[in-house]
Amino acid sequence: MPLRRKKSVPAPPTGPQPKGTGTLATLPGNRHAAILGVGGYRPERVVDNNEICEVLDSSDQWIRERSGIVTRHIAAKDGESVIDMSEAAARGAIEMAGIDPEQIGCIIIATVSHPYQTPAAAPLLAVRIGADTAAAFDISAACAGYCHGITLASDMVRAGTVDYALVVGVERLSDFTDPTDRGTAFIFADGAGAAVVGKSDTEGIGPTIWGSDGKHWDVIAQRDSWIDVREQDLGWPTIVMQGQTVFRWAVWGMAPVAKRALDAAGVTVDDLDAFIPHQANMRIIDAMAKQLKLPDDVVIARDIATTGNTSAASVPLATERLLREGEAPRGGLALQLGFGAGLSYAAQVIRLP
Ligand code: UT7
Repeated sequence: MPLRRKKSVPAPPTGPQPKGTGTLATLPGNRHAAILGVGGYRPERVVDNNEICEVLDSSDQWIRERSGIVTRHIAAKDGESVIDMSEAAARGAIEMAGIDPEQIGCIIIATVSHPYQTPAAAPLLAVRIGADTAAAFDISAACAGYCHGITLASDMVRAGTVDYALVVGVERLSDFTDPTDRGTAFIFADGAGAAVVGKSDTEGIGPTIWGSDGKHWDVIAQRDSWIDVREQDLGWPTIVMQGQTVFRWAVWGMAPVAKRALDAAGVTVDDLDAFIPHQANMRIIDAMAKQLKLPDDVVIARDIATTGNTSAASVPLATERLLREGEAPRGGLALQLGFGAGLSYAAQVIRLP
């Protein structure tokens, strides 16, 4: 980066003096960014509630009534890894965006179930899809991860850091779920969703409203740290959840966040074509829709019924489905909202690709 020396920037009065006191050349900034394509991958194996209840002390009726889930997809032992599923979803998004993989400057994978502490999943995905030299890293914001990724990608494109970024939300939660845990076994599922964010003539991604509440860090969490697992021989650390606490937070805390995202984008519920919240629980989706007073013609994503709760993958998977099945219009406005472990959340209004 060339450094233009400018005498007008004062050096600190004491301590070591910097070599140069000039300004840095910077990126163009102020470009528009939009989601240009989305893709999804659902594992082949469909598991119904009765199969879940073969080991879980529950019933098909209870699961349907309390969560809205009827079936979910569970990844196979081989061939449907976090990377495999990401690749399939990414290919769909890239195809819809109509770009070459080499044009992708950055790959962000949002996941909490990539089974390696390091390296991240994203560099391997980069090689798989032919974006070999793209910057590539993972982020951990659980069910809010995809909407966090869209924020980062949008800002990168708008600033001029990259022309195109790939955002993937992917989970193999079955690897981190105790099939006998009544609080999680029927909810969590596997899958991947992806989006290409790129430069655009018009604005396609509204301002993000996001945040966290670390005081409730433990209400959805890996049961034990890797260190405790090793030192106390605790067994595989599955993810546990204080369901009711999370439920109340989601129902009462997230509708105001969604409203703020609408305000920030300068639109109202009447302008929306679709509402795509994290697919956590059908009752949470219904309660949020009611609080937002969504008009009847706003399509509400209810992918959870046959996809389950796929954490970071749930918003892009639901988006991909609404478009593929023609339920939401291409080019329409959608309010998307992710929330979950951290606690963390992020919402934005987007124009559907
Ligand atoms: O993705 C990240 C964000 N996650 C979420 O947003 C999830 C939020 N939480 C939830 O979706 C709900 O809390 C659950 C679906 C996990 C649980 O539903 P709930 O309505 O909150 O159930 P509960 O824990 O209040 O339990 C209600 C009753 C209890 O029985 P009693 O005391 O009323 O007799 C439980 O013992 O249901 C019983 N119960 C079950 N029964 C059958 C709890 N879990 C089960 C089960 N099967 N799996």
